[in-house]
Amino acid sequence: MPIDVAAIRTEFPTLAREVRGERLVYLDSAATSQTPEAVLAAMERYYRTSRSNVHRGVYLLAEEATDAYEGARTALARLVGADPRGVVFTKNATEACNLIAYGYVRRTLGPGDALLCTVMEHHANMVPFVHAANDRGFEVRYVPVTEDGHLDLAEAARLVADGRVRFAAFTHVSNTLGTINDVPGLAALVRDANPDAVVHVDGTQAVPHLPVDVAALGVDSYALTGHKMFGPTGIGALVADPALLERMEPMLTGGEMIRDVTLTGATWNDVPHRFEAGTPMIAEAAGLTAAVAFLEELGPDAVRAHEVELGATFLAALADADGITVHGPTTMAERGAAISFSVDGVHPHDVGAMLDARGVCVRVGHHCCKPLMRELGINATVRASLHVYNDADDLEPLLDGLAAARAMFAVGRSA
Ligand SMILES: Cc1ncc(COP(=O)(O)O)c(C=O)c1O
Repeated sequence: MPIDVAAIRTEFPTLAREVRGERLVYLDSAATSQTPEAVLAAMERYYRTSRSNVHRGVYLLAEEATDAYEGARTALARLVGADPRGVVFTKNATEACNLIAYGYVRRTLGPGDALLCTVMEHHANMVPFVHAANDRGFEVRYVPVTEDGHLDLAEAARLVADGRVRFAAFTHVSNTLGTINDVPGLAALVRDANPDAVVHVDGTQAVPHLPVDVAALGVDSYALTGHKMFGPTGIGALVADPALLERMEPMLTGGEMIRDVTLTGATWNDVPHRFEAGTPMIAEAAGLTAAVAFLEELGPDAVRAHEVELGATFLAALADADGITVHGPTTMAERGAAISFSVDGVHPHDVGAMLDARGVCVRVGHHCCKPLMRELGINATVRASLHVYNDADDLEPLLDGLAAARAMFAVGRSA
């Protein structure tokens, strides 16, 4: 079924707000999405009726809390085509990337080895591996980005050719350029050169917007975050092949993750529990289950179709506007709906302030992609990101605001 934006908007209480005397136009879902009533209700239900701790209780409330928590594992696994035993809950995507960096990369790679990363990564999917490389003495090789915002796969083939790449980390969808990467293609390229290489993908910007099937993508691990997919803040996941999890060491130790403890050591619980030390995010898991149900009900194909249509309208308007440069692919077939651009002669922060005065929320800055910004030769961009609650009515004040910013700030403009 096509997305009914007017009906969907009524499910998001924040969207009913006015800001600065204007209708709120929320175009920053790539930073965090809004929360539907169903997610708020699921979290409140846990706090109001089933509040207790998970796994150890022998009473009904504890059973309900455990069901709420473990139910989220099953729901998330279903959404992304994974085995629930491979779903490790983390605080967010950043922690998921750190978990594989600490649990696997640091223990496996050393001098003489190489890790493949890309220039377009969010810091979350780069810094944990660079930090590990600096400590452990392996090399990080970066796939460059082409002029039109794609990964340079010819160069990637050259970078893996000596068979020394034992781990690859790259994003499914760029949060800055919007590029949808050919995940199976790059994974195959890495494994052709070294069949034992582990492929880790940052799916943070993919899961909320595209149909995702990690088995079909052919990756070993996949990071995601709840707060960008209509879920609460404070919960994300590393979705991995359970066999890979078996080969990993925990990053955090203590309660919940152990099988036995003596005064001199401990043995670990089964996967995935061995990676979830301490009392977990129970209310957030309940909220995440509702977020998954919300996405499933919309249908990931319908979400994608809506964003392709609205994104194409937006890209066409930006192409028509004077003095706007879009960064990344310019057709929706190749990209997601987080669209970064520069306004000639106007600092992104001035654009952001002009838009804020119109009630329009966009992101300005480096988007946690400083190496990419350096490659592009800029410090910052404006990023407008679309989701199911946006339609052409939201583009109007945005485009008005951009024209006003040009009129006020741009020097020597042509119109
Ligand atoms: C591509 C990408 N990866 C990772 C992250 C980190 O997500 P979180 O802040 O939830 O850890 C983000 C968030 O902006 C992102 O866009």
